Amino acid sequence: MSTNLSVIDLDRNLQPPLYAKRGLALVRGEGAYLYDSDGNKYLDMMSNYGVAILGHAHPKHTAAIQHQAATLISCHQSFANDQRSEFLQTLAGMLPDQLESIFLSNSGTEAVEAALKFAWVSTGKSKLVATKRAYHGRTMGALSATGEKKYRDPFAGSLAQAEHVTFGDLEALDATVDDDTAAIVLEPIQGEGGIHVAPPGYLASVKEIAQQRGARLVFDEIQTGFRTGKLAACEHDHVTPDILVLAKGLAAGVPIGATAVTKEIAESLGGGVHGTTFGGNPLASAAGLATLNAINDEDLFTKSAEVGDYLLQRLNALQHPKIRDIRGRGMMIGIELKGRVTPVLKGLQENGVLALPAGNLVLRFLPPLILTKEQADTAVDTLASVLG
Ligand SMILES: Cc1ncc(COP(=O)(O)O)c(C=O)c1O
Repeated sequence: MSTNLSVIDLDRNLQPPLYAKRGLALVRGEGAYLYDSDGNKYLDMMSNYGVAILGHAHPKHTAAIQHQAATLISCHQSFANDQRSEFLQTLAGMLPDQLESIFLSNSGTEAVEAALKFAWVSTGKSKLVATKRAYHGRTMGALSATGEKKYRDPFAGSLAQAEHVTFGDLEALDATVDDDTAAIVLEPIQGEGGIHVAPPGYLASVKEIAQQRGARLVFDEIQTGFRTGKLAACEHDHVTPDILVLAKGLAAGVPIGATAVTKEIAESLGGGVHGTTFGGNPLASAAGLATLNAINDEDLFTKSAEVGDYLLQRLNALQHPKIRDIRGRGMMIGIELKGRVTPVLKGLQENGVLALPAGNLVLRFLPPLILTKEQADTAVDTLASVLG
């Protein structure tokens, strides 16, 4: 499919070369579809790295943003605001009961940064234990917990004290977490690291280890949040962390982050240990409220879990010789290939389906929660034909 070169050239020339560019200018979205600058249509199996969970231009989400933009966009947290309070109330009602207090910020990495600061302040300890292959963001605290060496190494001298153990290995975790550990940080399903689901019983045992050593348990649900048929993936295991982090889909495309903590942790915070100018602004809060209302009104957890199961079944039924493994839950699926993922992503894009990589070998689907079975069929059929 052709592209608008001038938009693409400006995009490439006026920014540092930090991203692997896809050679495509996306200018419009509607439902589960995106459109490029030449009017070509793509099935969105990535929702912009997991953000657009309601699809694009959802009428109620759009109306809430339009209304709030014409009412009040910014309001510092030293003042209360109707949209923020209603959003917090709705979110608190959907979170596990123990997570009573929520700090709002503007991105995933900021929400993780807050989680780490809250763990450090509330325990008075400094060490972090995280997992290999983990991705928690790129600001300095979050980067300390991120496992991937290629992201960490250029900043090695400036990072917080952190040790990384193999995801799923309880013995290694038990040997590494000690009385100086402020927090154990992990994703219940590793996302950027290749879609690896925590083994059964793992999260509960990690919580026990955290409790024994007086460390905070932090679940980073920035990518898993909303995608597995529940608000948080840890709910499937009935394990509630001390600190739960959300971002990406929380306001369905408007930048936001949330760090939810227990009452005990909230009570240990004060004296300006953290803060933000934009966090919890009325525009993002209105978008977040509209997102949560749409999830509840349209029963999107149930529907997306059903379509996610169907997608997994169809992918497994392919039994394709170029596929090594298929992993995931709900609307978070990784297809590990026997070869590199880039040509497959390119083939899908040329055939009207946008997906993501998760490392060099894994094709990742993070579709919007509104995806239908017919659209799931299109994704699987296109993948089968691209794989050949
Ligand atoms: C699990 C997880 N944590 C943190 C982040 C960082 O979020 P952001 O890119 O909004 O800073 C991401 C982003 O991909 C993520 O998947």
